[in-house]
Amino acid sequence: MHQIVLIQEVRHYMTQPSEQFDVTAHFDESLAAKYDRRIRLFCPSYDTLHQMIVPWLQGLPEESTFLSAGAGTGAEIATLGKRFPSWRFVAVDVSLDMLGACQHRAAEAKMASRVTFFNGRLQEYQSPSLFDSASSVFVAHFIKGRDEKLAYFRSIAANLKPGGLLIFADLFGEKSSPEFARLLDAWLLSYASHGVSADELAQDRAHIENDVDFVPEGELVALLNEAGFSNPLLFYQTYLFGGCMATKHV
Ligand SMILES: C[S@@+](CC[C@H](N)C(=O)[O-])C[C@H]1O[C@@H](n2cnc3c(N)ncnc32)[C@H](O)[C@@H]1O
Repeated sequence: MHQIVLIQEVRHYMTQPSEQFDVTAHFDESLAAKYDRRIRLFCPSYDTLHQMIVPWLQGLPEESTFLSAGAGTGAEIATLGKRFPSWRFVAVDVSLDMLGACQHRAAEAKMASRVTFFNGRLQEYQSPSLFDSASSVFVAHFIKGRDEKLAYFRSIAANLKPGGLLIFADLFGEKSSPEFARLLDAWLLSYASHGVSADELAQDRAHIENDVDFVPEGELVALLNEAGFSNPLLFYQTYLFGGCMATKHV
């Protein structure tokens, strides 16, 4: 029974459009400037998520290295940099404007000497030395198509040490399910409650429907396994946002 459900989920997923969302145009200078405010309206547990990442990483060596894939304005780096003062970070982002905001934030947090920046797609990034851990928070849902998502996850795996940890969070779910519709409605009501204008709400709804490539949870787990990660463990959910930790195969 479970297997049949999964096969149906995969079939549904394979029919999704594969034209890529233009990430660089979306995360431009104007969005970079307002991102930190907007994301907290969009994801009400945004700060909590970043706090919840910390315990998974507490057992790592004092001199660890961390890869932030799709670093954006640097939320992961700011939280982890404060908690782990000897760690070094690499921020990779395809948007120069978001990466600029991240650089500014690192400087403000007096972390400039501990963070290096790579402007480009994660799929084109290969570090000369492997990382102890990595994050991908709210990035992969913008990558459309199974092969493209797999290539993205494989690039993260290729940059991690064997046994290295990945913290992964994204929007996901089975778009045709009744649960999805209920979660989407509740999520948009939560977003609207912050006094978002009707125009902005309509625009954001269209953004979610057209630009986010939702994948059923079973397919996401299969993708992470195929990319080289073991036992993804779900530890976070807020409406359609979900987060897990996974370990790179040894
Ligand atoms: C929604 S933001 C998330 C930023 C940050 N991780 C956070 O938690 O706020 C998504 C970021 O991923 C970047 N991005 C999307 N696809 C990418 C890719 N293939 N490689 C590198 N960065 C990417 C975007 O430019 C954007 O800054």
